[in-house]
Amino acid sequence: MAQNQLTDRIKEAAARLAEMQVGWRRHLHRHPELSFHETATTAWLKERLSELGLEILPIKLETGVAAELRGDQPGETVAIRSDIDALPIVEQTGLPFASEVDGCMHACGHDVHMATVLGAAAVLSGMRDHVPGTVRFIFQPAEEKPPGGARPMIENGALDGVSMIFGLHVEPHLNTGRISLRDGATMGSVFDFELIIRGRSGHGARPHLAVDAIVTAAEVIDSLQKIITRETDPVEPIAITIGKIDGGTASNVIAEEVRLEGTARSLSPKAFKKLPSLIKRTVAGVCKARGATFELNPSADYPVLTNHASANKILARTYSSLYGKKIEVTPPTLAAEDFSFYLERIPGAMFRLGIRNKKIGAGEPWHSPKFIVDEAAMPVGTALLAASALDALGGIE
Ligand code: NI
Repeated sequence: MAQNQLTDRIKEAAARLAEMQVGWRRHLHRHPELSFHETATTAWLKERLSELGLEILPIKLETGVAAELRGDQPGETVAIRSDIDALPIVEQTGLPFASEVDGCMHACGHDVHMATVLGAAAVLSGMRDHVPGTVRFIFQPAEEKPPGGARPMIENGALDGVSMIFGLHVEPHLNTGRISLRDGATMGSVFDFELIIRGRSGHGARPHLAVDAIVTAAEVIDSLQKIITRETDPVEPIAITIGKIDGGTASNVIAEEVRLEGTARSLSPKAFKKLPSLIKRTVAGVCKARGATFELNPSADYPVLTNHASANKILARTYSSLYGKKIEVTPPTLAAEDFSFYLERIPGAMFRLGIRNKKIGAGEPWHSPKFIVDEAAMPVGTALLAASALDALGGIE
């Protein structure tokens, strides 16, 4: 079918689905689950996917699901990914469908991602005669919690045989109906680590008989910042943050041990490659100078999220065919997303779905207890995903 005819049909199907989709989303919003504990969410998704006639793939994980929609004609396999986890946040939106789970909230829009991607499955299941190949729907656990759910999904075969993948994230800085995208490096790589500095305890008045882990830690924290200004190319953005520090027992006791947790980020794979060894060298040098020892334990390691030009092209032309508008440009950020693991292996792209609508209070930042989403954005994301998947399969002339 010609592009405009097919995209119009998809847009209409997505619009017809809107009411049911809002129901799905509100159910998920009421029943959020934390990372790696999304058991009810997984069961609920499996029910909806089976109802739509999709085949559930044998992914051997506690949570998360992948399902396939096979078109009437043979062809390649294209995937669409949603994350499914919520956050340890007490919801303060006052919405009638607010979280019913104390201290847990879908405050990053992953409920919206699920309903939007499920919508694409529903739209495409109603037009299998136009699907030349297979569309795989990947509902991944634990996007919010390193080491993340993407890697175990991939290790369990979720990406096997897939030629291209699309993902989305809601964007509170972008008005409903708008989409943004970025070519190339879009979100940061991550090196999360725990650092333990060990000295020798002693009386606070006799520092010469001890090795002060707190003074050493202070010097380490300061020196780590100098990696950014003195050791790496200033045109390549890097952030190093120590976000947690814990050590010592009393004001007059020299601390034996200090435990730190930090993260190092970059948008440049080249700069990022050097960061773990630069951090280790810096920590080792400072500790040696003060007579302390250390232990550096990496806790998460994500690649840069890099959108592929071929997938971006499909999203851009599909959006313009659907809505007659141009896609906006996503600003780069050192925030991270484990969708990067899929894009490290196969071509694909993650776009941002505008959900901002001041009239209903939608536009609070991600992870805010007052995070509200304009649900009118869902049919836009659904139509874009369904039509882009068809385009990627060669189903649009
Ligand atoms: Ni998120």
